[in-house]
Amino acid sequence: MRIVLDQVSKVYNSAQPNEVVALERVSLAIDKGEMVCLEGPSGSGKTTLLSILGCVIAPTGGSASIGDKKIARLPDHFRTSYRRQLVGFVFQHFNLLEERSLLENVTLPLYPLGVSPRVRRERALPLLQRLGIDHRRDFPVRQLSGGERQRAAIARALINDPPLLIADEPTAHLDRPLAGEIMDIFAALKAEGRTVIIASHDPLVVTHPAVTRRLALHGGRLLADPPGQR
Ligand SMILES: Nc1ncnc2c1ncn2[C@@H]1O[C@H](COP(=O)(O)OP(=O)(O)OP(=O)(O)O)[C@@H](O)[C@H]1O
Ligand SMILES: [Mg+2]
Repeated sequence: MRIVLDQVSKVYNSAQPNEVVALERVSLAIDKGEMVCLEGPSGSGKTTLLSILGCVIAPTGGSASIGDKKIARLPDHFRTSYRRQLVGFVFQHFNLLEERSLLENVTLPLYPLGVSPRVRRERALPLLQRLGIDHRRDFPVRQLSGGERQRAAIARALINDPPLLIADEPTAHLDRPLAGEIMDIFAALKAEGRTVIIASHDPLVVTHPAVTRRLALHGGRLLADPPGQR
């Protein structure tokens, strides 16, 4: 499942005084089984680019495809459907439901698929155990720590076994041993032939041996030669 972006742009608040050109003519191709690390300063467009790749938002210009699916100009319900089928997305700010339990949040992607409560639980528990948060499964998210929320967001992204995993600063709230554990999980997904795309500045992520390619954004443009490219 190859991902291709051709001259993709994203303008927020187009033609208004608060217009922002967040991405400018970004072209790239990512092969199945790659693990790509996306770097760039705050405001350079990383989250915007990940959101387009993850079928969360549509670009305002250019074309984009995941495998044989064109994703740039889709009605919202198709984009949502592709996202559910193809993508696990770890949001930078988690996007968890504060009043719902950890277990409900993590199993949320299974609801539209009609998976029974028993199977939802069976799928979630090993994942929560692996991430060290199973003892919090019945806690409402508002009672969780930053690192626990981060792990909840990661567990939710993995519950569907997605072919494409996109993670926006997934280790920002984690201590080093936990960050290493997360990278091991991502590397294992990559080893299974899944595609992993991570926005991060964390040296532990950036220099991880499983990373196949580093990309850098600056002012909404992809740099030809990212700093520190191996
Ligand atoms: N929904 C939005 N409406 C208007 N402007 C936006 C919106 N989302 C992002 N922007 C703007 O687009 C630019 C790129 O934002 P983006 O969140 O993609 O950057 P980023 O590289 O992820 O930054 P950070 O490292 O701080 O997370 C920023 O200038 C931001 O203010
Ligand atoms: Mg961001």
